[in-house]
Amino acid sequence: MALAMNPVFKGRDFISIHDFNPDEIAYILQFALQLKKMQQEGKPHPVLAGKTLGMLFQKPSTRTRVSFEVGIYQLGGYPLFLSPKDMQLGRGETIKDTALTLSRYLNGIMIRTFSHDEVLELAEHATIPVINGLTDFLHPCQVMGDLMTILEYKKTLKGIKLAFIGDGNNVAHSLLFGGAKTGMDVVIGCPRGYEPREEVLQAARQDALETGARLWVVEDPYEAVENADVVYTDVWASMGQEKVAEEKEKHFALFQVNRRMLDLAKPDAIVMHCLPAKRGREITDEVMDGPNSIVFDEAENRLHIQKAIMALVMQ
Ligand code: CP
Ligand code: NVA
Repeated sequence: MALAMNPVFKGRDFISIHDFNPDEIAYILQFALQLKKMQQEGKPHPVLAGKTLGMLFQKPSTRTRVSFEVGIYQLGGYPLFLSPKDMQLGRGETIKDTALTLSRYLNGIMIRTFSHDEVLELAEHATIPVINGLTDFLHPCQVMGDLMTILEYKKTLKGIKLAFIGDGNNVAHSLLFGGAKTGMDVVIGCPRGYEPREEVLQAARQDALETGARLWVVEDPYEAVENADVVYTDVWASMGQEKVAEEKEKHFALFQVNRRMLDLAKPDAIVMHCLPAKRGREITDEVMDGPNSIVFDEAENRLHIQKAIMALVMQ
């Protein structure tokens, strides 16, 4: 089956799941499943032959870097790893001038940075698609891969209950948007003071009117996981929060995903973690290495979903 390059995505940025409608999100997921199958069957799919992706990383990465780099290669294109340390950006060249310059050489830019506004600024001035590889606010490629993984395991997203246990962070924000666009119920179980941002909840709830997803926040993690189909967690201290990591541990002690907590979810619940994990903190070895855990399938799907995103926006 030939890949259908829906022109509706051509030239667009991929900055937030919120920017795409439910049909578009569903299309990207199906496209990624198709690409995964082609890859597994050894069928070449060089739909981005001769195209180049610049990858700007202001924060460390294992999965995002490797999956984007391998992904563009499998699509017939070429990756450039750009470290701001080595670029004039690190010496004060503006984001605007960087965007205008890179647009003359590249066909797409993937960026991982701290401030979400920097990504918006880059996208405003770049004339090529900008893909968000994580900011302090959102992690949309992660959650697209997560939706794909849940779809593979549960065959549907509508009516699925996902319990996110931990900090109301970038991953939690994108999960709320992802649930809202696909009809998946998302409950965030987090300590008081660490809730997801109110503006995200409001925007996601608005999106959810179209799909029927239920989105809510509770303080009791055990209440959150009750009857869940998916139990999801992430580090308590995200990149850039190293100074407050110790302080946060005190607030999150009850939010560890362990056997006792998992027992409250459905027996066939899948356990997810965007990784990297702090084993023994937000998740025990027993759960992470246990039969419900699918964290490495989840990591693999970053490759397939990002290939779909690149193929569609950089076509
Ligand atoms: N999940 C994720 O984005 O991992 P990396 O930080 O290793 O890219
Ligand atoms: N919330 C984590 C996700 C890492 C992939 C962070 O921002 O560090």
